[in-house]
Amino acid sequence: MDGESGMEAGAASFEALWGAIPYPALVVNGGDGIVTANPATESFGATSLRQMAGRPLGRFLGQDSAVLDVVRQARRNGVSVAQYNVMVGWADQPSQLHNVHATPLNEDGEILILMHPQGMADKMDRTLGHRSAARSVTGMAAMLAHEIRNPLAGISGAAQLLEMGLEEGDRELTGLIQAEAARIGKLVDRVEQFGDLRPAQRQPLNIHDVLDRSRRAAQAGFASHARFTEEFDPSLPPTAGDPDQLLQVFQNLLKNAAEAVPRVGGAISIATAYQPGVKLSRPGHKSESLPLVVTIGDNGPGIPENIIRDIFDPFVSSKVNGTGLGLSLVSKFVADHGGVVECDSRPGRTRFRVRLPVWRGDVAEEPRG
Ligand SMILES: Nc1ncnc2c1ncn2[C@@H]1O[C@H](COP(=O)(O)OP(=O)(O)O)[C@@H](O)[C@H]1O
Ligand SMILES: [Mg+2]
Repeated sequence: MDGESGMEAGAASFEALWGAIPYPALVVNGGDGIVTANPATESFGATSLRQMAGRPLGRFLGQDSAVLDVVRQARRNGVSVAQYNVMVGWADQPSQLHNVHATPLNEDGEILILMHPQGMADKMDRTLGHRSAARSVTGMAAMLAHEIRNPLAGISGAAQLLEMGLEEGDRELTGLIQAEAARIGKLVDRVEQFGDLRPAQRQPLNIHDVLDRSRRAAQAGFASHARFTEEFDPSLPPTAGDPDQLLQVFQNLLKNAAEAVPRVGGAISIATAYQPGVKLSRPGHKSESLPLVVTIGDNGPGIPENIIRDIFDPFVSSKVNGTGLGLSLVSKFVADHGGVVECDSRPGRTRFRVRLPVWRGDVAEEPRG
């Protein structure tokens, strides 16, 4: 990575560029001492460059700051390292979640650090990103199903034929082939759900009915070990929804909650509320008001930090037998309803929030794309 591209941005001087970066950017030397910092760092830390220059970064961020790990990783491996969702607190300022990038600048171990605070814009961005992730999966699903099913049938058929000529001991192996083939088959079935391009059946829907059904099914099955609490706003207006899809949304959220909570003392909460003022705007769409909020909470250990940013993407799972498809299905179905799903999580308290529009009588079909 040498700067062969003509890095002259018109007449802008390096100083002007450096000053224009709206979030903290700084350079440290090989010993983690601060060489320079941009004006945004000065205001973020309420510390002047003069006070920072030459001092160890750890003095401002704390010796055990995760930012230092990122910097050292970048230096050790000579590559850019990015870490998302890092808590950064400067001196006595309150900490805030940041995405941290560290890039080696030269052979002397100097590192450029960029710290991008995670604000609302980023959260929205992520939600919109999931929509397209889910859409691309939709297209892939039909192809996958077709491409995998046929050879899979071949494999398991061949194993069956083999089995006939084998000794007892070796049959175990053909059995294994068939069992694993069956497992792949099931996975393909689940992936195929994404390929279901049937548009959401929008009808006026009392979300509490759907939540009731979800909760009862959960309690009778996978969530029998958990204690449920419900806090419903009885005046909630109907949403424009597809009952089957929304049932799947809440089933998936409740299933994850049930899998997260402890066997003893596990608690799952379901709450609804009306919150006017939340609007989703997307390029090319009218901005949409999403005042209906359903929150599913649990008291499990929280979402593992290394995957929290990606949980809505397909195939991201921390579970031994997880498919990583639950939340990506949730995100697709909620997006099809014109809504968004958000999540915040810390140990002992994880919340998934589904925001949906209100039924408006006539439903203009959401332009697809
Ligand atoms: N309520 C929760 N508490 C903790 N982690 C969760 C919760 N919900 C989701 N996750 C994390 O998100 C991952 C993805 O979830 P999901 O898409 O449903 O796939 P799967 O359940 O098959 O792993 C899970 O593996 C888990 O790590
Ligand atoms: Mg799941």
